[in-house]
Amino acid sequence: MNVVLKNIGKKYEGREEFTLKDINLEIADKDFCVILGPSGCGKTTLLRMIAGLNSITEGDLLFDKKRMNKVPSKDRDIAMVFQSYALYPHMTVYDNMAFSLSMRKERKKVIDERVMEAAELLQIKEYLYSKPSDISGGQRQRVALGRAMVRKPSVFLMDEPLSNLDAKLREHMRVELVRLHKALGTTSIYVTHDQTEAMTMATKIVLMNDGKIQQAGKPDEFYNRPENIFVAKFIGSPTMNIIEGIIKEGKFVADHGLIEITPSPNDALKLKPFEGKLVSVGIRPERFESGGEFGDTFSATVDVVEMLGKEKILYARLDNGSELVISTPGHFEYAVDEVHSFGFDVGAIHFFDTVTGLRIN
Ligand SMILES: Nc1ncnc2c1ncn2[C@@H]1O[C@H](COP(=O)(O)OP(=O)(O)OP(=O)(O)O)[C@@H](O)[C@H]1O
Ligand SMILES: [Mg+2]
Repeated sequence: MNVVLKNIGKKYEGREEFTLKDINLEIADKDFCVILGPSGCGKTTLLRMIAGLNSITEGDLLFDKKRMNKVPSKDRDIAMVFQSYALYPHMTVYDNMAFSLSMRKERKKVIDERVMEAAELLQIKEYLYSKPSDISGGQRQRVALGRAMVRKPSVFLMDEPLSNLDAKLREHMRVELVRLHKALGTTSIYVTHDQTEAMTMATKIVLMNDGKIQQAGKPDEFYNRPENIFVAKFIGSPTMNIIEGIIKEGKFVADHGLIEITPSPNDALKLKPFEGKLVSVGIRPERFESGGEFGDTFSATVDVVEMLGKEKILYARLDNGSELVISTPGHFEYAVDEVHSFGFDVGAIHFFDTVTGLRIN
């Protein structure tokens, strides 16, 4: 099913300000759309509006072109998995999964087929007759997903469903959810504040901040072409370095004067109108050239080295005390307090208008 949000706004009763403003979004059939953003930006509010659990203050919500604003939640053909997925403790896993279908007075044979099918996909068949208290957190999480799956909804809504799991299990469930989505093809909307979940699972990411959409698109667009400084800093780990400066005779000169960058010919063209203006350079930690000899280079003192195995993260200090985060391959040797020369991958530099925060190149 195709889900469209047109100029959606939300103002909670008793609140002065709108929690969501002017949300425009199109989620295609079979998309796995991840709504990403910091705590309090309005993700759950938006998901609950799509689910019919929150009223819509303004704008239109369309499912396959049909306006849904006033359609009660139970008639929207959706299933939602909440962050706190309370299972019924006195019921078996089977009965937990069968519950919504029994309530709908579905035939026993159909219920059995659906539960078995979901249990097979989720690999929880051997626990069907256990109580929730007798299975692990990850298994319970799968039961919660199964409970939603058996309803065969047109849209799957999930609100941070993995947040209660430990890191290893979360990683595992991420892959499982992607597989499930591939197998079922159900349009899914998934809320998280975890950029890794968004980057790995989404066919489409919607990044929100302060009640507004900052950018919507494919994961690689977020990494390669962030539309503003907020997006640039939110996606990517370690965080993208932002260096403030000015454009002087076509070159970028950092405020501290210790870094100069000659833009690529393409970037130079886009920077023309910014001559003499405040511009910020964004460079991802993995886009520095270590041992820089060619092009623009700068030297920095290695302050801290974090060894992560396949990469080493360097916290490098410039002479004025400002810090850059540089990622290098794990087998490169760096000692603390050594001075090194670094360069830039000129094709991977992001330029932003410092005043508006918007992307230039
Ligand atoms: N029922 C409510 N009444 C009034 N304000 C609310 C209500 N629910 C949420 N809010 C406010 O709306 C804003 C967005 O909340 P929301 O729960 O949608 O954020 P979120 O992005 O899901 O955050 P988190 O990542 O912490 O779950 C917050 O400022 C919150 O206090
Ligand atoms: Mg939330």
